[in-house]
Amino acid sequence: MESFAGTPDPRLRELLTSLVRHLHAFVRDTEPTIPEWQRAIEFLTATGHKSDDHRQEFILLSDVLGISMLVETINNRTTVPGRGGLGGSSPRASTATESTVLGPFHMVTSPRRKLGDTIDLVGTGPPCVVTGRVLSVGGTPLPGAEIDVWQADDHGFYDVQQPGIQPQANGRGLFTADADGAFWFRTVLPCHYPIPTDGPVGTLLLATNRHPYRPAHIHFIATAPGHRPVTTHIFVAGSPYIESDAVFAVKKSLITEFTPVDDPVQAARYGLDGPFHLANFDIVLQPGS
Ligand SMILES: [Fe+2]
Repeated sequence: MESFAGTPDPRLRELLTSLVRHLHAFVRDTEPTIPEWQRAIEFLTATGHKSDDHRQEFILLSDVLGISMLVETINNRTTVPGRGGLGGSSPRASTATESTVLGPFHMVTSPRRKLGDTIDLVGTGPPCVVTGRVLSVGGTPLPGAEIDVWQADDHGFYDVQQPGIQPQANGRGLFTADADGAFWFRTVLPCHYPIPTDGPVGTLLLATNRHPYRPAHIHFIATAPGHRPVTTHIFVAGSPYIESDAVFAVKKSLITEFTPVDDPVQAARYGLDGPFHLANFDIVLQPGS
C-alpha cells in the first residue's frame, strides 16, 4: 500500500490502496494454492479473450457477481425507492424511477425512430405496445426527452448475438418524447433468456449450480436537459425468473404489467390488426446534471 503513497491523483491512490488491502485480505483468508492462483489468472485471461466489439464478458462477470448492481445502486442512491411514476396512473409523480444495470448488450448505437414506429424488424412474435411519459420529479412533463430502448427478441436473443439471423438494430430504437413528454412504440413481447453461457462466466455458473436466466425485460436509458439520466429496465410482471434474476437486477418498482388487449379499436389506434400486449409506465427523472 505504501508503494502507492506518491500517486499524484488522490482518487487513484485511494482506489489502488483499498484494492491492495482487500485483495490481500482475500488471499490471507482463502490461502489459494499455486494451481488455484494459476486457474484464476487463466479465468480472467479467458474472460478478456472472450470479449470483443459485440461480446462483453467482463460486464457479464461483474453482473453475475452482483458488482454491477452494487455500483449502479451506490451511484443512484439519492433515488427514492417506491413505485414512483411507474404505471402511468399518478398525475403527479413524486419519486424518481429506480435505476438498474446497463447489461452487456448496449454495444451499438440505437437507430433514431419516430414515435409509434416498431423496433421489431421481424414481425413473427406476439406484438406489444409500450407507452409512457418522461416526467420530472413533481410531475412536470419533459418534452424532447430522449428514450433509448433495446431488448431481446421473442426467443430471448439480442441482434448482436445473431448477426446474419436477426436484422441489424432489431429490438433497438432511439425515440424523442413529444410536447407532453409522451412516448410510444411497437415491439414484440420480450422473453426471459439465459445470459451467454459459452464463455468463462457460463463455466462459473455451471460450477456453482446457478441458472443463467434473466426475467423478460426491456432496457431503457432516458435523458432530458437539466436532469440526471436514468439507466433502467421494465420487467414483465409474472415472467419466469422474476424472483431469481442471474444478475440481481430486479427492483419491485420496475415490474410492469404487460396487459393482453383484444380490442380492435385499441389495436387500430397503434396500427395493429389483432390482439397485443400493452405496457404503460412513466419514467421520472431527478433534476440535476
Ligand atoms: Fe437484457
